[in-house]
Amino acid sequence: MTYPVPIVPGLLPAFGIVLMTLGPAPAVPADEAVLAKGERVFRNQCRGCHSLTPGTHIAGPSLHGVVGRNAGEVEGFKYSRVLQASRLVWTPEVLDRFLADPDALLPGTRMVFWGLPEDARRPLIEYLRHVGQQ
Ligand code: HEC
Repeated sequence: MTYPVPIVPGLLPAFGIVLMTLGPAPAVPADEAVLAKGERVFRNQCRGCHSLTPGTHIAGPSLHGVVGRNAGEVEGFKYSRVLQASRLVWTPEVLDRFLADPDALLPGTRMVFWGLPEDARRPLIEYLRHVGQQ
């Protein structure tokens, strides 16, 4: 005797994902792909104003090791009052909000930047964290 199999629509997409992960392994491991995308975003959107070398400031402060450190504390860079007084810590979550719309998080910041979409912020923050560990 066979039982009818209930079809639950909500389960179908999840099942599709399981099937995909069982497929052939991608040529590049996910991590490296994410970091490569993050590096590209940094090169195109940030590098004009920020270096990743400790102590090297351009229009903005060096971003070496920025993930996890206090805002406005890089030696030798003159911040705006609003950033210096912000008492923020650049956790991935706070960075994510800042990079989505700098002026919304810190009205009056000197970082004039229109903001990044989510699919660029995630890999960029991963990349910044990775570079900071080297
Ligand atoms: C047009 C130049 C410019 C661009 C482009 C730019 N920044 Fe900035 N950034 C600045 C300036 C200037 C400051 C200092 C802001 C202040 O003092 O209010 C800053 C500050 C920051 C800070 C705070 C650093 C600290 O030590 O507290 C972070 C984090 C940051 N930028 C990340 C980024 C990232 C990531 C990108 C690329 C998506 C980017 N910025 C693009 C100019 C820029």
